[in-house]
Amino acid sequence: MAFIQWSKKNCIGVPVVDEQHQKLFDILNRLHESVVEGLEQSAVFSILDELIDYTVYHFNTEEEYFGKYGYEGLKVHKEEHDRLTAQALDLQAKLREGSATVTFEILDFLHGWLMDHTTGLDMEFGDFIREKGITIG
Ligand SMILES: [Fe+2]
Ligand SMILES: [Fe+2]
Repeated sequence: MAFIQWSKKNCIGVPVVDEQHQKLFDILNRLHESVVEGLEQSAVFSILDELIDYTVYHFNTEEEYFGKYGYEGLKVHKEEHDRLTAQALDLQAKLREGSATVTFEILDFLHGWLMDHTTGLDMEFGDFIREKGITIG
């Protein structure tokens, strides 16, 4: 059983976004595996960097669509993206300082925000796109 499991409830019905979400789930599963297997810090950190970089790329993709299709939920959604990005960068900085390691508590936190965001605000955006009959990717 994967640490974070993709299922129908995560599917927002916008293929390009769903594919990116699945990739984020895959990276988080690899990060979890690296901790369980006790890989060295540099290997764990490089997967965390990959997760953060891909998250930023993914948020930009969604925000481009918000603008392009006149999504009314843009402001609230972008604020949550900004908050999540700030939390992730803060975590990354703390880990880099050497005062912490990637713990199961941190993995649970990442699991929580990925799950909550995809089933929450991302799903609302998916509803908007489907209701408007817009086809993306
Ligand atoms: Fe998303
Ligand atoms: Fe989002």
